[in-house]
Amino acid sequence: MTTTTGTTATATAATPAVGTSHTRMEGRAKVTGAARYSGEIPFAELAHGWLVLSTIARGRIRSVESGPVLAMPGVLAVLHYGNAPHLEEVVGLFGPNPVIQVFQHDRVPHVGWPVALVVAETSEQAREAADALVVSYDQEPHDVAFSAGHPGMYTPDNTLMLLAETEKGDIETGLAASAVVVDEEYTTPEEHHNAMEPHAAMARWDSGRLEVVDSNQGAFMVAQDLAKLFSLDPASVRVRSEHVGGAFGSKGSTRPQTVLAAMAATVINRPVRVVLTRRQMFSLVGYRSPTAQRVRLGADADGRLRAFDHQAACLTSTVHQFVERSAAYGRVMYDADAHHTVNRVVRLDVPTPSWMRAPGEAPGSFALESAMDELAERCGVDPIALRTRNEPDVGPVSGLPFSSRNVLGCFEEGARRFGWADRDPRPGVRREGRWLLGTGTAAATYSAGVAGSTAAVTAEADGTFTVRITAADIGTGARTALTQIAADALEVELGRVRVKIADSDFGQAMLAGGSMGTRSWAWAITVAASELRAQLALTGDIPPEGITARSNTAEAVSALEKRERHSFGAQFAEVAVDVTSGEVRVRRMLGIFAAGRVVNPLTARSQLIGGMTWGISMALHEEAIRDQASGGLANGDLAGYHFAANADVPLIEADWVDDPDTHDPTGIKGLGEVGIVGAAAAIANAVWHATGVRHRHLPIRPDRVLLAGTGDNRAG
Ligand code: MOS
Repeated sequence: MTTTTGTTATATAATPAVGTSHTRMEGRAKVTGAARYSGEIPFAELAHGWLVLSTIARGRIRSVESGPVLAMPGVLAVLHYGNAPHLEEVVGLFGPNPVIQVFQHDRVPHVGWPVALVVAETSEQAREAADALVVSYDQEPHDVAFSAGHPGMYTPDNTLMLLAETEKGDIETGLAASAVVVDEEYTTPEEHHNAMEPHAAMARWDSGRLEVVDSNQGAFMVAQDLAKLFSLDPASVRVRSEHVGGAFGSKGSTRPQTVLAAMAATVINRPVRVVLTRRQMFSLVGYRSPTAQRVRLGADADGRLRAFDHQAACLTSTVHQFVERSAAYGRVMYDADAHHTVNRVVRLDVPTPSWMRAPGEAPGSFALESAMDELAERCGVDPIALRTRNEPDVGPVSGLPFSSRNVLGCFEEGARRFGWADRDPRPGVRREGRWLLGTGTAAATYSAGVAGSTAAVTAEADGTFTVRITAADIGTGARTALTQIAADALEVELGRVRVKIADSDFGQAMLAGGSMGTRSWAWAITVAASELRAQLALTGDIPPEGITARSNTAEAVSALEKRERHSFGAQFAEVAVDVTSGEVRVRRMLGIFAAGRVVNPLTARSQLIGGMTWGISMALHEEAIRDQASGGLANGDLAGYHFAANADVPLIEADWVDDPDTHDPTGIKGLGEVGIVGAAAAIANAVWHATGVRHRHLPIRPDRVLLAGTGDNRAG
């Protein structure tokens, strides 16, 4: 490490840090337990809140019998709609969001809706009292039965945040003129994030400020929401979330535990912590809507698309409209003269769904990349050749040029490494004892977005540098990547830079979502660093408080030229299907991505492998089952909700091809989400190749495989 100090700090050329692998800055703290998560930071006088959730799916709260509970040991308060302080409306990206306006009325919109918070001296006392609290209801009939044909299904308005429907040309004419037509329905079930760290928050009043420690993807967003809810000056709310143990979208919105901790701390005038249980997370932190998707593809005999129709249906709650945009996938991937995409939604008596890793693209790519495989089969064209034949020159819906699009580079490299050329295209011909073997592929894409952010970079008197930005490291390695970015922007060694994140006092910044974090934060840090270097060039000594430069990229981001900006990828999977038990085992997976400039190959690969692992889980395991009678989940816990465990996950290789993006100042595209896209389709396509039978409904459970039979042993 260099030892230069003071004004010559930037004079020594440093080895570029971006593009080389670095272990996480906080890795040692995490594995030794020194890193504290929001549910485990000690505070003097801390009281504990325990949530009570509704047991009916629709109706009104008749009474909350808090008297007996208030007499129980240690109980300090019982908060509910009858005594809670007033909360103002919060307007989110999709309009007013009553999900976090807790305890404001007696209506119950779904099973698992917050109806009371019991606050006590200890967590155990709060839990015991919460279990004893009697809440009675006036129950009404509910409807939780999702299907594409539900009479309440509607097409939402096209808004800035949601392009519900797009159309060009005439689909029926296009289909009629096609030599080959695929017309199938695909379904995906309700799926839950299940971040390893449950949501938790602590709130306290300190010298007139509301101080919150929370587990979230964007501390500034949460601070703003709290200020609005409680009618506070935004400057008097501080939210920190130094370490976050996974999020996947479930912590990308302010959640009830944070609002309730703040409410309780205000009412009892003591610090209060609220931690969600694993079961409570199944109704309080969002989830992926089930989808039913009809895909109609019409093509010439050689597979060139003439008609493209993707109609996706999902559900939302009666409280708030969140739409899973499954049909967005094809707006980027495939063109045809007749092109129609729509995302429809129905309001049911269920919790409000939310963003979950690759919202839209994850289920959308399952349907569409399965349908493309079916088209390849019917045309007798290799699946990769089919995709090559249908590469669009510009955005199929927008007509905009791509900033860069290297999906074919991904297929080429992937095919070479996977050994695709040796594949026998006929299904059901490879056999190894009771196992049928097959391989499959699928494309992937996820948008590369950016949002204006602020950052501050300080040259310290001791020759080090401090970066402050309200970024969130939700386990991705963001802190480390940003340290690399800052070191290069300052042209100093990594060891001289410390990056402080996840404190709303640092100011506005993009949250860790939409695969937009690294690109947005890197841009802001780079601008501040370059401003700082300009200042340092003109300055003599660095004063004890250091010299700080600040940036705000809002204007630069909105001035960015309009282009289609996306990551791309090619997924490959090999599966073995046990014809006697119906079990599907993934034997190997390979994902090759084009995701712009890769900042930290170590953590980047980990993100992609994580996404692909989610793909295995989505293809074979995950499924939340809603019980029609109660309106609640039949398997809302980790005993009943299955996901891929270590034994289910084989060798997964993830890598990337060069993807320079000269139309972007950062060159970064983000890769937190693209890894799951197409992964489930590649596995389903491999199951078809192994068995000769299509599975259009996820997950591909053993019973479904057995009932559908295999090529040489079909049921019925
Ligand atoms: Mo992610 S689902 O964009 O938080």
